[in-house]
Amino acid sequence: MNRNEFTTEIYDFLWFLKQKEVGNKILDCGAGGRYPKLGLLAKYGYKDLYGIDISDDSLESAKQFAKENNIEINLQKANMKEIPFEDNSFDAVYSYNTIFHMTKKEIHQAVNEMIRILKPGGIGFINFLDIDDDLHKSAEELAPGEYVEIFDGEKVIHTLLTEEECEIMLKDVHILEKQKKFIHRLELDSKYKFGFLDYFFQKKK
Ligand SMILES: C[S@@+](CC[C@H](N)C(=O)[O-])C[C@H]1O[C@@H](n2cnc3c(N)ncnc32)[C@H](O)[C@@H]1O
Repeated sequence: MNRNEFTTEIYDFLWFLKQKEVGNKILDCGAGGRYPKLGLLAKYGYKDLYGIDISDDSLESAKQFAKENNIEINLQKANMKEIPFEDNSFDAVYSYNTIFHMTKKEIHQAVNEMIRILKPGGIGFINFLDIDDDLHKSAEELAPGEYVEIFDGEKVIHTLLTEEECEIMLKDVHILEKQKKFIHRLELDSKYKFGFLDYFFQKKK
């Protein structure tokens, strides 16, 4: 069992999809891994599901999950900085626990791409890392808010943002809800807390 299997944010996203009565065509940016969130959308009746991810291994795990659970999802290798789909072509788009693995400039590009492929009236969800997250601050700071660590021999970036920085990127959409949360895993005896800024938005009609 993995904590990532029981995420609550995707349920909030599902609520907005139902409330706004959006269609079935949904894209997950960073869709790979052992517990692909597209599985949850499939469980709640969404049928035209797409996912992109830059990692072959993550894609393979997600494909395995889809096979084991008899779910149809269209997965392909791509970078969310250049989403390989047409303008205004998806009813909804989201990215969970992914976008902060890029520099600020790249995050801005990726947000623009997510908005570009959304249909007018379409719904989006992104979770960013909050500037007051303190888990990653012991790492090397490459540029203000951009931290780099080595995991399993690979460079991993964590970029922390202020609300103002997030909202500059989201200035052309309607922000439906924002959630600022801190998670302090005391049971794990961690002295660090995660900080997240979650945004649910709608592309203007
Ligand atoms: C922490 S995992 C989260 C996976 C999934 N969203 C979940 O919640 O289970 C981050 C995923 O994002 C992918 N990723 C990182 N940067 C990406 C990018 N620029 N474009 C697409 N996928 C990316 C990684 O390969 C990895 O599968």
